[in-house]
Amino acid sequence: MSDTVITVLNVVTRFGKNVVHDGISLNVRRGEIYGLLGGSGSGKSTLMKEIIMLLRPQSGEIRVLGQNLLTISRSDAAILRHQWGVLFQAGALYSSLTVRENVGIKLKEYTDLPLKLIRDIVRLKINMVGLPEHAADLYPAELSGGMVKRASLARALAMDPKLLFLDEPTSGLDPVGAEAFDNLILKLREILGLTVVMVTHDLDSIWTVVDRFAVLGEKKVIAEGTLNEVRQNPHPVIKKFFRGKRGLIRSRNGG
Ligand SMILES: Nc1ncnc2c1ncn2[C@@H]1O[C@H](COP(=O)(O)OP(=O)(O)O)[C@@H](O)[C@H]1O
Ligand SMILES: [Mg+2]
Repeated sequence: MSDTVITVLNVVTRFGKNVVHDGISLNVRRGEIYGLLGGSGSGKSTLMKEIIMLLRPQSGEIRVLGQNLLTISRSDAAILRHQWGVLFQAGALYSSLTVRENVGIKLKEYTDLPLKLIRDIVRLKINMVGLPEHAADLYPAELSGGMVKRASLARALAMDPKLLFLDEPTSGLDPVGAEAFDNLILKLREILGLTVVMVTHDLDSIWTVVDRFAVLGEKKVIAEGTLNEVRQNPHPVIKKFFRGKRGLIRSRNGG
């Protein structure tokens, strides 16, 4: 079985005249936590949406779990979509549903499991992301920011995905909440054997959870590798990135 679960090759993306990606290539390996970094507007979310088949690039190739997304059949695409869970930037829980209903929605829609079993699975997932039992019956508006993220994560994990996509999961959380969320991701990767792709601009996350990452900039991948590899890169964007975020590192590590 291949060690590479996601391959992005020479991807070009345009919105009208706006060229967002001009030949992006990267690889995500099985079991790793892979970061997508880059300034605002560098095309991180767009690339993630292309990998999960919400958008189609103008050219290039994307392979996920051995399937070529440009040539995949409708029925294979439907199966593939259930191999991943996604946590979007805004969290995006249904506001009219409780946490329990949000987490269970895909199980109800896509499986024939008996309701009793769905209820048990949902309870397990809610427990797994560290939410208290009583949170199950709360509505999104009744949750703190950190709880919304955890509930969204429980929903993303409902169908036991192999891949987990996270778009800026720690944005909007305070440093303590962000660190707790990062640790949760590490724990879940280990327990569930997940491969995780995480869009982030949080340098602390790169320090603590991300195994390898790509830095997007100037419509390209400026650098890819481990933290130590990328830090050696003399590109001005990389230098600026590591210089500019130092204060943040100190603040989360407490000095
Ligand atoms: N659906 C869309 N239609 C038109 N332009 C878009 C769309 N989505 C993203 N863009 C543009 O693509 C660029 C990259 O956006 P995005 O991927 O959201 O960046 P990032 O997530 O790195 O901040 C931006 O210039 C943005 O305006
Ligand atoms: Mg984004």
